[in-house]
Amino acid sequence: MNIVILAAGMGKRMQSALPKVLHLLAGKPLLSHVIDTARQLSPEKLCVIYGHGGEQVPQLLQAKDLVFAKQEPQLGTGHAVAQAVPHLDDNTPTLILYGDVPLTTAASLQRLLDIAGTDKLGILTVNMDDPTGYGRIVRDKGAIASIVEQKDANEAQRAIREVNTGIIVAPTKLMKKWLANLSNNNAQGEYYLTDIVASAVADGVAVVSAQPDHVWETSGVNSKVQLAELERMHQHNIANALLEQGVTLADPARIDIRGTLKCGRDVSIDVGCVFEGDVVLADGVQVDAYCVINNSTIGADAHIRPYSHFENAVVGAECIIGPYARLRPGTVLAEDVHIGNFVEVKNSEIAAHSKANHLTYIGDSTVGSRVNIGAGTITCNYDGVNKSRTIIEDDVFVGSATQLIAPIRVGKGATLGAGTTLTKDAPADKLTVARAKQITVENWQRPVKKPK
Ligand code: UD1
Ligand code: CA
Repeated sequence: MNIVILAAGMGKRMQSALPKVLHLLAGKPLLSHVIDTARQLSPEKLCVIYGHGGEQVPQLLQAKDLVFAKQEPQLGTGHAVAQAVPHLDDNTPTLILYGDVPLTTAASLQRLLDIAGTDKLGILTVNMDDPTGYGRIVRDKGAIASIVEQKDANEAQRAIREVNTGIIVAPTKLMKKWLANLSNNNAQGEYYLTDIVASAVADGVAVVSAQPDHVWETSGVNSKVQLAELERMHQHNIANALLEQGVTLADPARIDIRGTLKCGRDVSIDVGCVFEGDVVLADGVQVDAYCVINNSTIGADAHIRPYSHFENAVVGAECIIGPYARLRPGTVLAEDVHIGNFVEVKNSEIAAHSKANHLTYIGDSTVGSRVNIGAGTITCNYDGVNKSRTIIEDDVFVGSATQLIAPIRVGKGATLGAGTTLTKDAPADKLTVARAKQITVENWQRPVKKPK
């Protein structure tokens, strides 16, 4: 099939310079949600109609399988679909989606496609307690006769509770003909896509309907209030799916997933955590409150303590991280590594059973196994121009408040005395200390304030 996504509208009620369809839901533009769902249906042609906000939409979302057609000015939904006409294959039906309706499931769309086949006009409809603002489905002896917009409807039509969700599938060749005959002689002076329904009936084409599994699947975003409501709905759905899989969530209303979160068995997640991009938590992982984990993989039985922040990190099995730990891109921790409070690790590998428990920066480093890094240790990896590596071999003991000026190597089993500023490689198995000699000044007197 062909799929056309309407995304030219301006979204005035968003009160924003950003085109409406680029606002984020679960960390991803509204329009990207629709494009991703469309891709699940493997369309031959996928066409996005854009307009308001200039070239931002095609610039941000361009991809090999997408065609962008500009609608300028925006004269209505029928006029919008007409912009896609040159790109549509006549031999396969065309499905119309809205770029500001992000949560429709592929399953509900498939139901509509199945019922419409290749020769019928299909409309996804829902029954609403309050249908105000929507196009009403007018039926004649049960069969759909037309769609009438709120502003054009008479009182009897306004009482109809079955509404047009806007999602329509049509035989393409006929649709092109119907679009060419649209008029804007209506209350809004627009070319209504919905007028193709009456044309189909006049041409003897069957008009059928299908319903989505849930009404929220067809909810659109017109304001920040509606965006926030749909975000909550989406997060609620994801949290429920995790609970169904056996993940323990301290409170399913206090977790945010902006991407995909894969969890093994017996994972538990406390309140306030945010997961971004692709995150994997293996069996038995415990994530404590208020952690932000972005594109990272956490090994089995690891314990992430509160307020930790990870980005592009790999954490091995049985690690204990945090509270207040920061793992930056390129951090790879083997099993049973302990990273404590106010420790930052960047672009570094740390081998099994090593520990850095307090107030430390490990950057551009390779750290061996069973290494103990004392409080306040800093790898000085940057001279203002170049980044250099620090190598700390197995079984090293780094005393507190040590600075390692990279490039530098600390040999296996070496001990660095506390307070050392290491500027030359430290040999294996020996104590290396670099610090000023301690002196005590005899007969020294602390200055005293003169009484006033
Ligand atoms: C439309 C339907 C209405 C349906 C409702 C569901 C028509 C005439 N009416 O009404 O039956 O109940 O959606 O929400 O189709 N757009 C363009 N270019 C335009 C106009 C709109 O790209 O010139 C896009 C908008 O960005 C939006 C979608 O089409 O994504 C729907 O437009 P909107 O103005 O919200 O349509 P409604 O008047 O709400
Ligand atoms: Ca709308």
